[in-house]
Amino acid sequence: MQLKDVGLTFEDVKKYTEKYMIETYERFPFLAAKAEGMYLYDQDGNAYLDFYGGIAVNSAGSCNKKVVDAVIDQVQDVMHVFNYPYSIPQAVLAKLVCETIGMDKIFFQSSGTESNEAMIKLARKYGTDNFGENKYHIITAKNSFHGRTYGAMSATGQPDNACQLGFKPMLPGFSYAEFNNVDDFAAKVTDDTIAIMLEPIQGEGGVNVATQEFMDGIQQLCKDKGLLLLMDEIQTGWYRTGKAMGYMHYGIKPDIVSMAKAIGGGMPIGAICATEKVASAFTPGSHGTTYGGNPVACAAAIAELKELIDRNLGDNAAEVGAYFMEKLATLPHVKESRGRGLLVAIELDEDRAVDVKHNALDRNLLTTAIGAKIVRMVPPLIATKEDCDKAVEILKASIEAL
Ligand SMILES: Cc1ncc(COP(=O)(O)O)c(C=O)c1O
Repeated sequence: MQLKDVGLTFEDVKKYTEKYMIETYERFPFLAAKAEGMYLYDQDGNAYLDFYGGIAVNSAGSCNKKVVDAVIDQVQDVMHVFNYPYSIPQAVLAKLVCETIGMDKIFFQSSGTESNEAMIKLARKYGTDNFGENKYHIITAKNSFHGRTYGAMSATGQPDNACQLGFKPMLPGFSYAEFNNVDDFAAKVTDDTIAIMLEPIQGEGGVNVATQEFMDGIQQLCKDKGLLLLMDEIQTGWYRTGKAMGYMHYGIKPDIVSMAKAIGGGMPIGAICATEKVASAFTPGSHGTTYGGNPVACAAAIAELKELIDRNLGDNAAEVGAYFMEKLATLPHVKESRGRGLLVAIELDEDRAVDVKHNALDRNLLTTAIGAKIVRMVPPLIATKEDCDKAVEILKASIEAL
């Protein structure tokens, strides 16, 4: 839809938005008129180099032609039917996902937070079915982010963040331990604990990478105490960090993994995958969704995943991401650059992340700020070293202009 199609100006759109929408976002000062590959274009045709990718979504590039074609094809056959008839896109996607990451079973959802709800519910059901009614407690990491619905929000270890303030009490059954500290997790295990739930890199928490030692220790702790390991791969999944899933860098295997964002290439879809044993806790009527497994979203996901796999975009993310991080580390006022693949952040030596983000926006580079000091970048995985050079140049000017 373009302004001329509806006879509006950009100012009209802004006015309607401010008057009628419940606004919880700090908007960019332009509208998204077109998106293509590494670029977003505003109402006047200005191009913005996109290093936020709809927050780690548009991995094969915005409006990837194969994804767009798959959507157009599918909307002409079936747009929505609920999960009663068998579905070609669901079956093909289920096989592709399970075989690619070596999992037994999948359940489709529509978003990240919903996928984490499914993951938490499945772990609780498995625990209480097999070990008694109190066996539903889950330990998550401090500073984690798992979503904004009540289960996922309660799993989130950020009690002082706006995402939790005013919504208390959180659901019972969650406790929180220090990320990258196995001893703290071990200390929080009780007879009622069924699972440990983690992101391999805390994305919203500031791009904090789990250490190998931590992941080894957590895997051992789960084995020793008979706990399930739940991995939230919503931001890190589907080659963002170089491998299909972030946990694959560590040689560990979770019992349940949640995914969303990049899997749909821009269409809203999420999922959980689980081992056969754990998945069997979900029985008819115990879980369901109207839109999860929607045929258009599944068709888009098949095309997106094929693009990521066929074009080796995971290898590209690993190589270009390492190059990018090295360059970022040389910028003035950058205390540290960190991340893995193309999930990258710079930590500034002062509380100026929002100012850097704004200065970069003025110079046509799109990034996100996390907290006071961190600027995060999650560009499409098609990003080249030249794109990164451009981003580094703009960030340098943005920091120097502070
Ligand atoms: C690790 C992680 N889990 C869950 C979510 C929630 O996903 P959604 O916004 O699709 O509900 C996010 C979103 O940023 C995330 O990064």
